[in-house]
Amino acid sequence: MTVLFFGDIFGKPGRKALLSHLPQLISQFNSDFVIMNGENLADGKGITERTLKPLLSKGVDVVTSGNHLWDRQEGLEYIASEPRILKPMNYPPLAPGSLNYIVRKGDLALSVICLTGQIYMPPCDSPFQAFDSFWESTDQTLPLFVDFHAESTAEKRGFGWYVDGRACAVIGTHTHIQTADEEVLSEGTAYLTDAGMTGAHDSVIGVKKEIILEKFRTSVPHRFETSDQGLMINGVVLKIDPISRKATHIQRLRLSVEE
Ligand SMILES: [Fe+2]
Ligand SMILES: [Fe+2]
Repeated sequence: MTVLFFGDIFGKPGRKALLSHLPQLISQFNSDFVIMNGENLADGKGITERTLKPLLSKGVDVVTSGNHLWDRQEGLEYIASEPRILKPMNYPPLAPGSLNYIVRKGDLALSVICLTGQIYMPPCDSPFQAFDSFWESTDQTLPLFVDFHAESTAEKRGFGWYVDGRACAVIGTHTHIQTADEEVLSEGTAYLTDAGMTGAHDSVIGVKKEIILEKFRTSVPHRFETSDQGLMINGVVLKIDPISRKATHIQRLRLSVEE
């Protein structure tokens, strides 16, 4: 079976890029499941009903997230009520969001979770222990996709090896910078340190570059504005054997979609 995953969708430019190209990508790759990281949907910060619903109706099956999931107060009730929105499972139980979502289509099923790293990230529980607890209690016959949302390449790579053979894929997010280290690990887990960002790349991780440079030069806080230049779709295409639950192929997507 084929799974499409898209890295952090940043603001309106990212949403528009994915909305207009998703139907074509689904048919081009004949994909069965579509997952995206939505933590930056609402102008770079958080998820709201208005920003997510069009993407769910265009074919996104599950939404992973990370540290920015709860940035919009007005989105919290929606996050709590929409089971397809996943929070990092190593965050406090009281934080809104699902821990796990299983998508089923015909004979195929895919289980999805996300976790955050602990290095250079807001405080959270050990993703290694959280994964082990989940693994002991879940249906291990289902292929399991993991979005590992973290800053440190070493922590991401380490986690990939830790769950090799248990998850069918560990795809990193959060840095918004795509890495070129895609591979299927020895026990069958597809791995990529970071899928990159879907949004405006003529920017610093989605924000107008002039604003970020001014902040770096002066250390004075500035209001961030989303860039709309240099649109790209970043993600991966995965081939998973539904019987063995192992990945057979991983391909990076890095598509310029400037009109
Ligand atoms: Fe992000
Ligand atoms: Fe993040």
